[in-house]
Amino acid sequence: MLDYTEALELAVSLSRQAGRLLKQGLRIEKQVTTKLHQHDFVTEFDIAAEKLIIDGIRAAFPGHAILSEEQGSYATTSPYRWIIDPLDGTSNFICGYPHFAVSIALEVNQKIEISSIYDPTRDELFTAITQKGAMLNGEVIRVSQQSVLDGSLIETGFSSRLSLAAANYPYFKAVLPYAQTIRNCGSAALALAYVAAGRLNAAWYLSLAPWDIAAGTLLVEEAGGRVSDLDGKPLIDAERGVLATNQSIHCEMVNIFKNIRCKNVGRV
Ligand code: IPD
Ligand code: CA
Ligand code: CA
Repeated sequence: MLDYTEALELAVSLSRQAGRLLKQGLRIEKQVTTKLHQHDFVTEFDIAAEKLIIDGIRAAFPGHAILSEEQGSYATTSPYRWIIDPLDGTSNFICGYPHFAVSIALEVNQKIEISSIYDPTRDELFTAITQKGAMLNGEVIRVSQQSVLDGSLIETGFSSRLSLAAANYPYFKAVLPYAQTIRNCGSAALALAYVAAGRLNAAWYLSLAPWDIAAGTLLVEEAGGRVSDLDGKPLIDAERGVLATNQSIHCEMVNIFKNIRCKNVGRV
């Protein structure tokens, strides 16, 4: 039986090492290449940070499965699977905008049990172990106590694929009149960590990948918040949308989204 505290220590140590590496790259020119489409970027720092993390996990737990953004899936029969985004916020990183994170989660029998999200520029480490709460730099964090959507600080993001980004316009337009304002800071992992820490009241995304949200989901839940799909149903596939809130404003947001989704039925 795996010791979760030890596994989290490994994730934290690798996150800090990867974070140091990314910080070194922040202000220098990077080799930027595109992946699936025009605005889908990767740099040599994404690749190097990912290698560092994967090498560390393989050395400690050679039998564990791994899912990571750049290298893809390394499947085994193990119930343990590490889910890694070595650099969440690549577009920010490329421009020298210091808002990005290293995200590592460990799933056991398809349930996330430990999480680490590390922001190297602020030296902020968000961690969680299932049923043991969420922490920021070792101090317990909780979601905000905001009870209504009116006046909330919300975050969203726009996909780098223009067609998917445009699909978020009606959501943005519908939420904005209620919110204090809506941020789009470019790291979904940090947005979820901020919901957990009570800095944001909610965050929604129309389409994300599993590595964008794996660690953040446990953080939000352990901090007393809620994560679901955009209909308020259990989150099964992040590509179909994600809503994370402090719990209290969840239903209000789902109701706003329902109106948009009803109007969009039948549209491509
Ligand atoms: C991106 C960030 C961004 C979100 C994008 C993601 P990446 O991840 O999380 O906030 O809006 O959809 O792809 O590519 O920087 O790891
Ligand atoms: Ca990401
Ligand atoms: Ca990434």
